[in-house]
Amino acid sequence: MTAETSVSSGRLVDRDAALSAQQMVEHLVPPRQFAGASLDNYRPDEDHPSQGAAVDAIRAFAGGAQGVGLFRKKAQAAKPGIYLDGGFGVGKTHLLAAAWHQTKGRKYFGTFIEYTALVGALGYAPTVELLKGASLIAIDEFELDDPGDTRLMARLLNELAATGSRIAATSNTPPNALGEGRFAAQDFLREIDSLADKFETLRIDGLDYRRRDAEAHARASDDVAGELAGIAGPTTIDEFDTVLRHLSTVHPSRYVRLVEGLAAIGLTGVHSFGHQTDALRFVAFVDRLYDAQVRIVAQGAPLDSVFPEEMLQGGYRKKYLRAISRLIALTSSGAV
Ligand SMILES: Nc1ncnc2c1ncn2[C@@H]1O[C@H](COP(=O)(O)OP(=O)(O)OP(=O)(O)O)[C@@H](O)[C@H]1O
Ligand SMILES: [Mg+2]
Repeated sequence: MTAETSVSSGRLVDRDAALSAQQMVEHLVPPRQFAGASLDNYRPDEDHPSQGAAVDAIRAFAGGAQGVGLFRKKAQAAKPGIYLDGGFGVGKTHLLAAAWHQTKGRKYFGTFIEYTALVGALGYAPTVELLKGASLIAIDEFELDDPGDTRLMARLLNELAATGSRIAATSNTPPNALGEGRFAAQDFLREIDSLADKFETLRIDGLDYRRRDAEAHARASDDVAGELAGIAGPTTIDEFDTVLRHLSTVHPSRYVRLVEGLAAIGLTGVHSFGHQTDALRFVAFVDRLYDAQVRIVAQGAPLDSVFPEEMLQGGYRKKYLRAISRLIALTSSGAV
């Protein structure tokens, strides 16, 4: 059953989340949200010069990946890797996708989780075989949470860099980084130790772009089915608790498949989280909705109020704040 036919059931939890290794590889392109991201439509904030500097550095880096023209000389001296570090919503993924679009040749773009899931599905050696010789490997949200996965990726990237591939990565929102994730770059370089000297780190400062305009809030609906009926394209409607239960049975690397092709999802009975694991799974799910630009029409507690204060004050604060920023964007009537 394809994702499209399962949509007709109208329930998110009935959708087919199976993902073959082949489909995983096909997914290694920038998500819909960043299909048109370029260096030209990135608007650097003049109050934060690191943004303009990042654009220049990425232009040079992507030019180096092509190894042609003006940048050839520079490319030979430049490092094969670039790491974009910074707070949420400053445009790291936008810039990573822009670098990908700018690069010619065989290239890949995925989240850290997608790459590790690919190694899990294919095995290590076949993954190297598949990716080697690529002009660019773009990795969004490099995770340092799991030492095993970090080591696996460092080994993979070492091999790929040795084949001449360039690597661009962005920082994930690290746990316990209550500030701006200031130490993420150092952690990253330490963890990928053997690769560290191959990476140039770019620190991007700034405000959450999604909230540049106004202080917004997540909108709650009192007629989910009615609003969904007015949205063109496939939609689903489920109870919040049913979705949470379902998310616990699907590997997060497959959430992308769960939401694929949807225009909007409806959630009823939204309430605040009692358990951190449910909340973190929901955060990962929101990330995939956001990437695919799937609108949310929700009834119950406003979605920007579902993370209780004790969670917001805990080690995953930044992850929750970012999810709130994304939930505000996805529930706004002008979304997508
Ligand atoms: N300076 C900018 N000019 C134009 N668009 C921007 C800029 N910064 C961010 N955006 C847009 O704002 C949205 C959020 O940016 P993006 O997702 O790239 O940020 P991020 O740093 O990856 O954040 P996160 O921590 O949430 O992953 C995207 O739609 C992106 O295209
Ligand atoms: Mg991002």
